[in-house]
Amino acid sequence: MTAAATAYLVHPATRPLSGQVAIPGDKSIGHRALLFSLLTRGPVRIRGLGGGADNGRTAKAIVQLGARVERDGDVVVVHGAGFGHLRAPEAAIDCGNSGTTIRLLTGLLAGQPFRSELFGDESLSKRPMKRVIDPLRAMGAIIDGPLGAGGDVVPPLTISPAPERLRGRDHALTIASAQVKTALILAALSARGPSKITEPGPSRDHTERLLAAMGAPIKAHGREVTVDPTGWDGMLDLPGGALTVPGDPSSSAFLVAAALVAGASEVVCTGVCVNPTRTGFLDALTAMGAEIEWREPRDVGGEPVADLVVRGPAPALRATEIAGDLTVRAIDEVPILAAVAARASGTTVVRDAEELRVKESDRIATTVAMLRGFGVEAEARPDGLAVHGAPGRPLAPARVDAAGDHRIAMAGTVLAMAGSAPSRIDDVRNVATSFPSFVDVMRGLGATLETIHDPGA
Ligand code: S3P
Repeated sequence: MTAAATAYLVHPATRPLSGQVAIPGDKSIGHRALLFSLLTRGPVRIRGLGGGADNGRTAKAIVQLGARVERDGDVVVVHGAGFGHLRAPEAAIDCGNSGTTIRLLTGLLAGQPFRSELFGDESLSKRPMKRVIDPLRAMGAIIDGPLGAGGDVVPPLTISPAPERLRGRDHALTIASAQVKTALILAALSARGPSKITEPGPSRDHTERLLAAMGAPIKAHGREVTVDPTGWDGMLDLPGGALTVPGDPSSSAFLVAAALVAGASEVVCTGVCVNPTRTGFLDALTAMGAEIEWREPRDVGGEPVADLVVRGPAPALRATEIAGDLTVRAIDEVPILAAVAARASGTTVVRDAEELRVKESDRIATTVAMLRGFGVEAEARPDGLAVHGAPGRPLAPARVDAAGDHRIAMAGTVLAMAGSAPSRIDDVRNVATSFPSFVDVMRGLGATLETIHDPGA
């Protein structure tokens, strides 16, 4: 395997983009497909896993917990251990850059009769874990970790066996977080008595869909999930033993945005998950005046899927406001939405997005810094940001520090295509965590970008 590029040199687009891209598997669903397959007894054949490093961390973790994972062409076959039969890991589990891996595992391992340790890279070691640890402790879990600079508990985490079975509980979450929700659902499955999880916004519901399909005692209704393992035999099983992971809408967002920013004769993203908890980006673009066709809506693996088509000429985009539930439904797409907003007339405002402060980077700060690098007027706000778009104005060539954040790296790359001269995007290694084929795909659509490999960077 060749080492991931450390920087990109991105040339301004000289012609409209065109082409068709089969979007690699969704990262969130990939984590769940792997982790929940560990909890079944029969083999599960997973098609369409995205191949990013974050899913790779979850794949290694489930092996440490007793699964056998084999490759059969483009299918990954997981031979699970079964819900009540996980193996105690012999070594600490390395979650890399992946917040989803560490938070989901914390919930799963909280109710297990063995000790485990979870750790991650420099970025993950700064990310807040109290949001999962506090409600799990209230169920009786024993979880320890150091206090980080911001006063929150951070990795590495040690999970010790609880002296008695976890207690089911009602949790009223103050943050709309699918990672926290999933961690609590997994803990609730091994608890005594029912649990109810209520959340303040529509976080992604892939866990509820997949676990329900596997026969878990779980019911979702609006913002409420109940788990009642009373009388459950602990068996999870995916009917048919096969699952296809639909394409990642968060990856396709960069291609859709590139088509809007650089112009497109026709860009088609096939097989994209259009679960309504994930389509905030597309809704915001529609409000800005973009026309994106959803072709051939269908069901893949219990998720709604469509092909997305963006055609030229580039539309005249106008600013919009992103707030409330729409922010939750577009949370991972704010950096790329902000890049599109730079090419729309008027001021786009993102609100209710304080969660962005604790993603792979402080995405409010890194998004604003990225935009300003191109000479775009933008300002950070406590709960979001404002972008003063100027569609006609040429963008300055930038030197962007992606700060190790994959989504900043890709958003900067897309905006650089509207630059007046080549731009350089630094610290892009982690693009491999979610979209390892990003450079090849962009080149395939007609973008000109060079990769720089600096082992010292
Ligand atoms: C994810 C949930 C979101 C999202 C992350 C993936 C998941 O995080 O930002 O990229 O797969 O559950 P939060 O749950 O912290 O909002």
